[in-house]
Amino acid sequence: MKIRGDFVYKIPEELVALGKERIDGYPVEGFVWGSGPENPAIMLVGEAPGENEIETGIPFTGRAGKELMASLQGVGLAREDVYITSAVRSRPYKWGTKKKRNGEMVERKYNRAPTKKEIIAHAPILDKEIQDIHPPLIVTLGNVGLQRLIGPKAKVTELHGVLIETPILYWDDANNCFKETDEVYHIFPTFHPASVFYNPPVRELKDEDWRRLKELLGKVE
Ligand code: URA
Repeated sequence: MKIRGDFVYKIPEELVALGKERIDGYPVEGFVWGSGPENPAIMLVGEAPGENEIETGIPFTGRAGKELMASLQGVGLAREDVYITSAVRSRPYKWGTKKKRNGEMVERKYNRAPTKKEIIAHAPILDKEIQDIHPPLIVTLGNVGLQRLIGPKAKVTELHGVLIETPILYWDDANNCFKETDEVYHIFPTFHPASVFYNPPVRELKDEDWRRLKELLGKVE
């Protein structure tokens, strides 16, 4: 895929290896790298890859991805202009049964939200991306990305569509806990693009957030 920025950003392989090692044993599969240039207009922080992303190896390439690309287009941005990542980089799954057309019941994997332990396992990866890329604006998509960065009390329903200037959380390995950065970041929370499928009235709120975001682009550094 062509990336429009100067250089495509890649986290160090050692950190990928560490993330894979730490998440080993949890019910997750695959690993999707963050994607985008070193100098993106914004960084998008989602939840975790789903079934589609594990197949393509590219974040947000399923149904939610289509929705997200439409929002980006609406603010004059393309996938190549932004850095897309998530709290967890492997697909968290759970087993469930599905009834086939012929009535046969089959076992299959379903996407699920990542657990706190899985988020901690991959925290050093997101920390490094933020540290290296230093995006002018971080757009969190849904509660998982938002809470990973500003804490478990933050709720997208309360904070969406508002620019927040705040320290963010990073994983402190030595003390085995999240700590706040000294530096302040610009965070713009909005809904996860998939939320409109489960809760259609959210679409209007989400679209309004993206209109506000358009006004902010270029104004924050
Ligand atoms: N949700 C995410 O957070 N990331 C993806 O890549 C897909 C769905």
